[in-house]
Amino acid sequence: MPNLCVVGAQWGDEGKGKVVDLLTPRFDVVVRYQGGHNAGHTVHIGERKFVLHLLPSAVLHEDKVCVIGNGVVVDPRSLLNEIDELRAMGVRVGSNLHISSAAHVILPYHAEWEAGSEQRRGERKIGTTCRGIGPCYEDKSGRRGVRIGDLLHPQTFRRLVEENVEEKATLFRSLYGREARPASEYVEEIAACIDRVAPFITNVPALLARKLREGAAILFEGAQGTLLDIDHGTYPYVTSSSSVAGGAATGAGVPPHAIQAVLGVAKAYCTRVGQGPFPTAMEEAVDEEVRRRGCEYGASTGRPRRCGWLDLPALRYAAILNGFQSIALMKLDNLSFLEEIKVCTGYRYKGTAMEEFPSELWRLEQCEPVYETWKGWGKPIDGCTCFDELPLEARVFITRLEDNLLLPCGIISTGSDRSATIIRKGKGLDQFVRTR
Ligand code: IMP
Repeated sequence: MPNLCVVGAQWGDEGKGKVVDLLTPRFDVVVRYQGGHNAGHTVHIGERKFVLHLLPSAVLHEDKVCVIGNGVVVDPRSLLNEIDELRAMGVRVGSNLHISSAAHVILPYHAEWEAGSEQRRGERKIGTTCRGIGPCYEDKSGRRGVRIGDLLHPQTFRRLVEENVEEKATLFRSLYGREARPASEYVEEIAACIDRVAPFITNVPALLARKLREGAAILFEGAQGTLLDIDHGTYPYVTSSSSVAGGAATGAGVPPHAIQAVLGVAKAYCTRVGQGPFPTAMEEAVDEEVRRRGCEYGASTGRPRRCGWLDLPALRYAAILNGFQSIALMKLDNLSFLEEIKVCTGYRYKGTAMEEFPSELWRLEQCEPVYETWKGWGKPIDGCTCFDELPLEARVFITRLEDNLLLPCGIISTGSDRSATIIRKGKGLDQFVRTR
């Protein structure tokens, strides 16, 4: 069976956790390839709710191999907290988990650095999750980072931290007017985790090469979303990693041709948490109601998410960048209260229609969305599992969307539970999930 990459098509929080959970039964291995514990993948199974930050959502399935690739940044303390919480809920986390020796370690000074940097930016702050993600990637690109494999060699680990703290101390003092802590404190905080992290440390490219040779099927689980990608997103209001499908090859350590299909996950509307342009922001009253119905609060930070109308230029852009075969359309049920639904079909810049999603922030900030108003269905569809049982207006909404994107909607989600899902035959996903 081909390997599949699941990617967020908007600004994150699209519902990738639920989709990965649905698809996992057909796969042998699930790999997280970027991001860190800034992510929050929520999976509802019956009455139980699991929120995963760093571990692949497949950890909820006993028999799957779960991998954290080199493209991910790992805070050992939050990794162990997450493992402990899951174990307390009866989830097995042991020899099924592999962490790349080349993944970078988030040290406590990364979050301290980020707090100073965000404060210094003032009104231009990024609105990050303040988990040290960006600074850790900065150290990675600056070739001074500490990698998970370095934890296995205490002298190397200590030397790297000491060299870093020497630099950070100057930075903290001169730019942020604060002192860094002594290097030994940072070393000790992380050293306390090493014995428990060590058994998971793996040569991931070698593991995945072996799995590919054996014919195993691999699912690559994206975090955040296309518009938060460091290269292709709404820079600088982005995260610091490659969240697009292309990032899966480098972030997992597999050849590009190992990723044969890409599924885009998009909500039937948009949300955004943190700063940055959001062209299709909803009117206040609708925004509040959608947030209330959709529980649109950050799974990692609890911040309220801004809600916006579905943005088709942004989705078309995401489809081009990732090469989607199909779309999973999430949270359709949250729009059931609307008699009319606005959909952004294009942008205008200084009165001229734009063909493409703008790559410059200043241009995007000045773009005006062009809306069409589509008829709402105005009645509950919660838990619906069959496309033909959706109200006519909901079916028309989906068909118009497919026509506009020139892509099929293979999955439609009508509620948070695993079972509240429509999985459609002949819509690009037949190989990956039981369709009807
Ligand atoms: P960072 O990833 O913490 O550096 O934050 C950078 C931007 O990405 C901020 O706007 C965050 O709110 C956003 N962000 C990071 N992770 C997620 C996520 O999992 N969902 C949605 N937004 C995210």
